[in-house]
Amino acid sequence: MRVLRQLPLLAAFAIVALSAGSAWAEAKFLGNASCEKCHKEIFDSWKKSIHAKAFDLLAPNTRADKKKEAGLKPAEDYRKDKSCMNCHVMGWDAGGYSFDKPADEWKGVGCEVCHGAAERYLELHDKKDLAKRDKKLKQAGLTKPLESSGPGTCATCHYSFDNPYSKIRDKNRERNWADPKWRETYHVAPKK
Ligand code: HEC
Ligand code: HEC
Ligand code: HEC
Ligand code: HEC
Repeated sequence: MRVLRQLPLLAAFAIVALSAGSAWAEAKFLGNASCEKCHKEIFDSWKKSIHAKAFDLLAPNTRADKKKEAGLKPAEDYRKDKSCMNCHVMGWDAGGYSFDKPADEWKGVGCEVCHGAAERYLELHDKKDLAKRDKKLKQAGLTKPLESSGPGTCATCHYSFDNPYSKIRDKNRERNWADPKWRETYHVAPKK
């Protein structure tokens, strides 16, 4: 997870929490389709969400006013700009989106951006009666953004100084990322 390297100090606790689970080679991203069959409702709502569509913002003349606000050039095609990839696609530099394989599947902020690359937890987390569940899943790389690593997962993008808007929007620092009202930006709450 390259994004983590650009974290401001405040979210540094999240680095410790996440890297503790990755003692060996980094897990592979499997893609959003690998979540769909078991989490259909969440998948469908995510698909319509602004996070799922975040790649489209990089196209020329999309949100022209907002681009000017951050000193970006409205007519530029930022879909080809490396410096935007960490936060607008999934698995950049980690086997997901790349300029050689610019597949739709990896565009936007996908499931594993927030929940961790799934290679090692995919099968494991399907076992509902797993002993020491939380601990084992965490070790296998599963993240629950509001619990296991705290709101740091959201902050890696929203709070990072690599985000062109973080310097001009104080609200990014003042927000409580754990507030359930933000759910509408990613997906419906799971049915208990
Ligand atoms: C084969 C079915 C299956 C697939 C595929 C699957 N899941 Fe799950 N997932 C489950 C089950 C079962 C649970 C446990 C639900 C429960 O206990 O209520 C779960 C729970 C979760 C949880 C909550 C974990 C917890 O312990 O609280 C997250 C997060 C999650 N899945 C993410 C994903 C992501 C991301 C993908 C795709 C990479 C995915 N799942 C693919 C079956 C699946
Ligand atoms: C470190 C993560 C990060 C990087 C890198 C990044 N963005 Fe974003 N971007 C965000 C986040 C988070 C938002 C949500 C708005 C906010 O933060 O205020 C966003 C929002 C946007 C928006 C919509 C703004 C609005 O208010 O409607 C545009 C346009 C955008 N980004 C373009 C870019 C471009 C172009 C680049 C590369 C030059 C880039 N971003 C790089 C994280 C990032
Ligand atoms: C922008 C970050 C983000 C993205 C993208 C995202 N999630 Fe989540 N997900 C969360 C948060 C935060 C929670 C915690 C519960 C809540 O706030 O609703 C959660 C909860 C869950 C849960 C239930 C965990 C529990 O508490 O039992 C599952 C299952 C899940 N997500 C699957 C997915 C799948 C599948 C995708 C992609 C289709 C996805 N998520 C995309 C942030 C995200
Ligand atoms: C990989 C980077 C990334 C992560 C991680 C991420 N976001 Fe975002 N988020 C974005 C981008 C990019 C947008 C811009 C979407 C748009 O404007 O259409 C955005 C938009 C938003 C917005 C609406 C714009 C604003 O600033 O009001 C909210 C609210 C939000 N995200 C909350 C969250 C929460 C809560 C989490 C964690 C559970 C999270 N995000 C995780 C990249 C990210």
